[in-house]
Amino acid sequence: MSQAINWTQVQTRPMLMIPGPTELPWPVVQALNQPAAIQYDRGFDETVLEPTTLALRDVFQTKHEVLIMPGSGRTALEAGALSVIEPGDRVLVVGAGQFGLLMREIMNRVGADFTEFTVELGARLDLDRLAREAERLRPKAITLVHNETSTGATYPAAEVGAIARATGALFMLDTVSSIAGIDVRTDEWGVDLNMTGSQKCLAAPLGLSLVSVSPRAWEAMEQRKVKAHSYAYDLNRWREQWMPVSRGGKVPDGTPRRQPVSIPTHLTEAMRVAVRLILEEGLPQRFRRHAVAASALRAGVAAMGLEMFPDPSIVSNTVSSIKAPKGVDTGAVVQTMRDRYGVLIGTGLAEIRTTTLRIGTMGMTASPHYVLPTLSALELTLRDLGFKADPGAGVAAAQQTFADAS
Ligand SMILES: Cc1ncc(COP(=O)(O)O)c(C=O)c1O
Repeated sequence: MSQAINWTQVQTRPMLMIPGPTELPWPVVQALNQPAAIQYDRGFDETVLEPTTLALRDVFQTKHEVLIMPGSGRTALEAGALSVIEPGDRVLVVGAGQFGLLMREIMNRVGADFTEFTVELGARLDLDRLAREAERLRPKAITLVHNETSTGATYPAAEVGAIARATGALFMLDTVSSIAGIDVRTDEWGVDLNMTGSQKCLAAPLGLSLVSVSPRAWEAMEQRKVKAHSYAYDLNRWREQWMPVSRGGKVPDGTPRRQPVSIPTHLTEAMRVAVRLILEEGLPQRFRRHAVAASALRAGVAAMGLEMFPDPSIVSNTVSSIKAPKGVDTGAVVQTMRDRYGVLIGTGLAEIRTTTLRIGTMGMTASPHYVLPTLSALELTLRDLGFKADPGAGVAAAQQTFADAS
């Protein structure tokens, strides 16, 4: 008998269909290939940092300041939390999965008197109940994960923002897996701290933490009784040392400013290019592209006889969480797809690790170019593992969705 062909022999790396980090556009990769730059050099500020900061406002859909810091999504969440929350402050944390739990843990670390509003995994958020809870607690802040990456569900941030406004709470939104892939309207939704990372739908390398700050959030920092217990990540230091007076900061316009923490020059240059690509594409087209790619993926999955994990009304356009067929080991699916077919997807997390699979459609990968080979690899893998499905059914259904959309 002839030996099984190793299809990945000639591939140097798997295609990244995990829910981040995601594939990088070639101009972004090229932007990293630079000699050392000096982070405090005026040239870096004027040609890279400042234009990137300003362009990010368009991506965040905000008129207010967007801060770039070294770190990741978690750093952004922690910086936001430790800057506005003082020990004993009441915080209402909406928890609908692993990243809601992360926010709870961060609030615990900063000493918040937090109450968790638990949402069953993959289930809709009961807005009336949340409004009543917010009214009862009158918290200083309400936190929400816009797109819960662990369950592939998108939550109604505009409505939660309205509840926060009505109860006088700050609205802290984790947009780590939504920004630049799903519509995020920072100002319109009343988001006071919009906290995210660079490596998902922004399609920039991992390593930057981004936070937009509203005037209400600056006010909350100003009114603290004691300074935040962090030197590098106290956002108020940005206002004091970095932001010009004309933008609500404390640095006289035209005078030298200092970065409160040294900003990674290469990553910022890559982010500059990533943001340029996003704005050249245009946000409406980009969101539509993610919506069509995710719906094609879902059509393919359905044609293979598989079901999505979350409630159908809240399925995400950037992370698809799929129920694995009964008796199929999710770890084996991931490993076989990677080793035999060169496509990397993820399992679920925590209690749904062994029952769900997760596929990202983020940035570049929200396209037929990535979705069709992924479905093909998934079909082949499931067949290898003994699951019966019509060969090509998933790919055909997804192709139909792409064809209908064009
Ligand atoms: C919704 C959400 N929040 C927070 C994080 C943590 O971000 P990071 O891994 O960049 O620290 C992630 C990472 O996957 C995420 O998906």
